[in-house]
Amino acid sequence: MISALFTGFALCVVAGATELFDRNLAYSSPFVDAPHLSHNTRSLHARGIAYAKRQLSDTESSDGFKDEHYPTFYGGDFSSSPWIYNGGINFTHSVASGDPFHDSVLLWTRAVPTGTALPSDVSIPVCVSFKIFNNAQLSGRPVDSGDAFTSYDVDFTLKVEATNLKPDTKYWFQFADCTNPKTVSPVGATRTISTPDTPAHLVNGGKPLELAVFSCSQYQAGYFNAYGVAAHNTSADIFVHLGDYRVRWIMHPLCYARELTIDCSAKIGRKTLGRELATIADYRLRLNQYRTDVSLRDAHVKAPWISDDHEVADQSWKAGTANSNDSAVGCSFSPSGACFTDRKLAAVRAYHEWMPIRQVDPDDKLRIWRNFQIGKLLDLTMLDTRQYDRDITDLYYNTAVIDSIADETDRSLMGPSQESWFFNTLAASKQRGAIWRVVGQQIVFTQLNETSGFDVDAWDGYRANRARVLNHLYDNKISNTLILSGDSHANWVSDLAHPNDTVTYDPITGKGAIGVEFAGTAVTSGSAFGTNIQPAAADVISQNYVQINEDLQWSEGSYRGFFTLTLNTTTATATYYAMRNISNANLDAFASATFVVEAGANKLSRPVAGGKVFAGALKVQG
Ligand SMILES: *[C@@H]1O[C@H](CO)[C@@H](O)[C@H](O)[C@H]1NC(C)=O
Ligand SMILES: *[C@@H]1O[C@H](CO)[C@@H](O)[C@H](O)[C@H]1NC(C)=O
Ligand SMILES: *[C@@H]1O[C@H](CO)[C@@H](O)[C@H](O)[C@H]1NC(C)=O
Ligand SMILES: *[C@@H]1O[C@H](CO)[C@@H](O)[C@H](O)[C@H]1NC(C)=O
Ligand SMILES: *[C@@H]1O[C@H](CO)[C@@H](O)[C@H](O)[C@H]1NC(C)=O
Ligand SMILES: *[C@@H]1O[C@H](CO)[C@@H](O)[C@H](O)[C@H]1NC(C)=O
Ligand SMILES: *[C@@H]1O[C@H](CO)[C@@H](O)[C@H](O)[C@H]1NC(C)=O
Repeated sequence: MISALFTGFALCVVAGATELFDRNLAYSSPFVDAPHLSHNTRSLHARGIAYAKRQLSDTESSDGFKDEHYPTFYGGDFSSSPWIYNGGINFTHSVASGDPFHDSVLLWTRAVPTGTALPSDVSIPVCVSFKIFNNAQLSGRPVDSGDAFTSYDVDFTLKVEATNLKPDTKYWFQFADCTNPKTVSPVGATRTISTPDTPAHLVNGGKPLELAVFSCSQYQAGYFNAYGVAAHNTSADIFVHLGDYRVRWIMHPLCYARELTIDCSAKIGRKTLGRELATIADYRLRLNQYRTDVSLRDAHVKAPWISDDHEVADQSWKAGTANSNDSAVGCSFSPSGACFTDRKLAAVRAYHEWMPIRQVDPDDKLRIWRNFQIGKLLDLTMLDTRQYDRDITDLYYNTAVIDSIADETDRSLMGPSQESWFFNTLAASKQRGAIWRVVGQQIVFTQLNETSGFDVDAWDGYRANRARVLNHLYDNKISNTLILSGDSHANWVSDLAHPNDTVTYDPITGKGAIGVEFAGTAVTSGSAFGTNIQPAAADVISQNYVQINEDLQWSEGSYRGFFTLTLNTTTATATYYAMRNISNANLDAFASATFVVEAGANKLSRPVAGGKVFAGALKVQG
């Protein structure tokens, strides 16, 4: 394994002609030596040369060889340089950036050939240049710049790493057509994070750092206004996405897996294109369509994203989804006969093409769990509780079985390697003196009795695993952990404590808790309380939930939205935003509740939410 990788890498270096392909990280998405997850850029290069030679030897054409549409990039030496397309390109999906480090960030765009000059042979590479500046006017010398190729092999996506950047600094970037520099992309804004050893009070230039946190967007369910409000009406520095960036199938049983036959969207006129996702083309089409939403586009242009969860299909676990696995019956859903493994790899690859996300570990193609040390202010630890190594979940037909095994000690949401890495990361974060531990993960952590039972697709289906996390925090006196969760299509804010433990933990004062969970609702996916449930009806349900669940302090189930988490050295503040109407594109929203956590307190400040919320229900005090 190691030698194969090394050889591949060495050859790329020797074959300098592939450099412009290699600079586009989408070709290695996400794994250089797995043929179905990446492209061999040497063969792409050879393909380009073959095309050039074919043109040169084309004596049958009456007007002879024409090269004006296909100039070589380095003059006339066709043997060492591929030809490139110069018929005009369209930056169809604007720009994006992500996974900021203290000295680099990923920049993303998509460059699609346009016009009548489309090459007859689509294998010709499209050349895109990028420049990144330290000012919004893009004046002066760029801090970094370069050229890279894209092609149909990666859906014309382009993902480059801008390097040699300064820590904790804002940047602006733009792409252009190499062969026609007047054709430029929109300008994107991005930033780097502080170096790990930056004193907490100096992070973000001494200003509080603001994260905007999202989960669950579903195209046909509504307009993605939440992203737009975050982009236009907050000062979010980093956008964090917790799962279900392209919700495939939702909880709503009528829509589930049947959105083509039962139109859940007729009212707002948004329909997803294509069929149930199974192949690389299906996944690309879905991402392409999602990224046409104006609010989502604006959010990608505004700030870097840190995202997780390369969604495959509904109720994913490591070896299947609600309607697919590698058994004969589990493959039958797919018109193209794609079984679960093919489907998962297609989903992963398309995700890496379309999202500005890094390949964390070249030896571990599914790994997206990773940690960002943002000065001594915080560690932002991103987990994968969905795809990586998760034991079987509720697949609708087996709910009773999962209920009966939810307590089993060896059930795992993360798998052993991720779980031990997570525990070590928490301990190391304390050890290095970071004030906050912010954990981004996909599903609700706190025990939630939803009267009819527990959602065993959440941590409630993996109770021993949850106990291991809580024990790790309690036993090692790891303070200031804030767990961020998505997936549930409703808002839940809780003190972190062992379920059913009212001896150590006091639900009224919060004494004895070891942290806080902020679970956020969906950008558009229908409420877990019932699609389109009105606030008054949802609040009745919430009032019951906060009464019967000890740790739960706030519940809200009507509004779609997102929340921000603002951190400084003494205080973490979470503000929940509710969208007034997702049936059309707008930026109409209000803050429904604001929660404060003081450093060292390990619980929500009392009175919770200042004693007043504008939607949902707070636990009744006293
Ligand atoms: C560029 O792509 C956008 C988005 O797909 C499309 O609306 C626009 O018409 C295209 N422009 C050209 C010149 O092809
Ligand atoms: C595979 O999925 C089908 C439903 O799609 C289910 O009936 C079957 O039990 C599953 N098999 C396994 C081994 O999980
Ligand atoms: C969940 O709450 C309901 C309503 O209060 C209650 O009847 C039920 O016993 C609870 N379930 C569990 C497992 O505690
Ligand atoms: C808490 O108590 C309820 C009701 O007895 C039970 O169903 C649930 O499994 C308990 N949770 C844990 C983590 O023990
Ligand atoms: C941190 O933010 C909180 C809430 O805005 C504020 O009350 C507090 O003074 C800030 N702490 C510092 C050290 O600036
Ligand atoms: C939300 O927007 C839709 C579509 O524009 C409109 O028909 C509806 O009346 C709006 N709802 C509210 C409550 O304003
Ligand atoms: C967000 O900003 C826009 C203007 O950019 C404004 O029209 C809108 O009302 C604002 N929304 C909120 C929730 O403040």
